[in-house]
Amino acid sequence: MKAFRIHGYGADPVIDTVDVPRPGAGDVLVRVAAASLNPLDVKLQRGYMQAFFPLTFPYMLGSDLSGTIEAVGDDVSGWRAGDRVVARTAPTSGGALAEFAVVPADQLVRLPDTISFERAAGIPTAAGTAWQALFEVAGLGAGQTVLIHAGAGGVGSFAIQFARQVGARVAATASGDGIAIAERLGADLVIDYRNQDFTKRVSDVDVVLDTIGGDTQARSYEVLRAGGFLASIAAPPDEAFAKAHGVEAAFVFHRSDAVRLATVVDKVAAGVEVLIDRTVPSRDAVAAFHHQASGRARGKILLTNAW
Ligand SMILES: NC(=O)c1ccc[n+]([C@@H]2O[C@H](COP(=O)([O-])OP(=O)(O)OC[C@H]3O[C@@H](n4cnc5c(N)ncnc54)[C@H](OP(=O)(O)O)[C@@H]3O)[C@@H](O)[C@H]2O)c1
Repeated sequence: MKAFRIHGYGADPVIDTVDVPRPGAGDVLVRVAAASLNPLDVKLQRGYMQAFFPLTFPYMLGSDLSGTIEAVGDDVSGWRAGDRVVARTAPTSGGALAEFAVVPADQLVRLPDTISFERAAGIPTAAGTAWQALFEVAGLGAGQTVLIHAGAGGVGSFAIQFARQVGARVAATASGDGIAIAERLGADLVIDYRNQDFTKRVSDVDVVLDTIGGDTQARSYEVLRAGGFLASIAAPPDEAFAKAHGVEAAFVFHRSDAVRLATVVDKVAAGVEVLIDRTVPSRDAVAAFHHQASGRARGKILLTNAW
């Protein structure tokens, strides 16, 4: 089968021909219909995540996938060949950008017929992270205000919609055509971050979802109300800095969780949009990877199983 791999940190990804993997006990083999890229794939390739996710080479890229079950390993119940599924593999395992992927059965979520394989592949990491950060970590609720940075990005596009659904007021940052996208997804206020200082446009915010880090994170403390919450998925917040501003701050480390994934899949089935930057055949994975690395994507970059 074909697989999109790297042979070392910093090495350009290439399409290799490899054996179809065999599912071990507790695993299933999925015939991948679609996969999506994430900034994580780029950070893994660059070696930035070695301390958290040490890789073994050659490493098969990709953790978000959808498809049908091809074969079931020993000790797996409740799943059978032909089932439509969506899943997130562990980053150290990767393997989504291939014709077949081995997935632990406890990470599988059933995919309703109403969601295409392409849209499904865009859900796991981005939607799961948005959900974990907003609700499980920051405790966002009805009537609160949230500032979401990078509202036209993979995580931000889901975060805007989830936050609106629980009855929060949503401000988001974006630029260029991302502004109209963030508005369409439901943001009450979109701040053109390249031309406007977001700290002058919002104040007394209950929650900030920081997807950027650095100076954006540092300035975000100014817009929080006393006792507000900064949840960063980009860089660990400085606790002393947070304390000095009278707010709480936490780094959110997205962990795969099939229950959470099932929840966000249900949201998509009920109408939440998977913002798609582009859908390309897997044979164009190298170009797609470079586009992901640009940091300019408008939502998810999807790869269909066409090698
Ligand atoms: N901690 C975790 O577990 C976890 C999980 C998921 C993601 N992440 C991280 O979270 C970050 C966001 O992920 P993602 O999937 O949403 O990325 P993404 O889809 O690549 O985000 C791209 C978007 O970011 C926008 N952007 C770039 N700089 C910006 C700025 N200064 N202010 C506002 N918007 C800006 C871009 O808009 P413009 O082109 O208009 O600038 C673009 O639309 C990444 O660093 C990713 O690695 C962490």
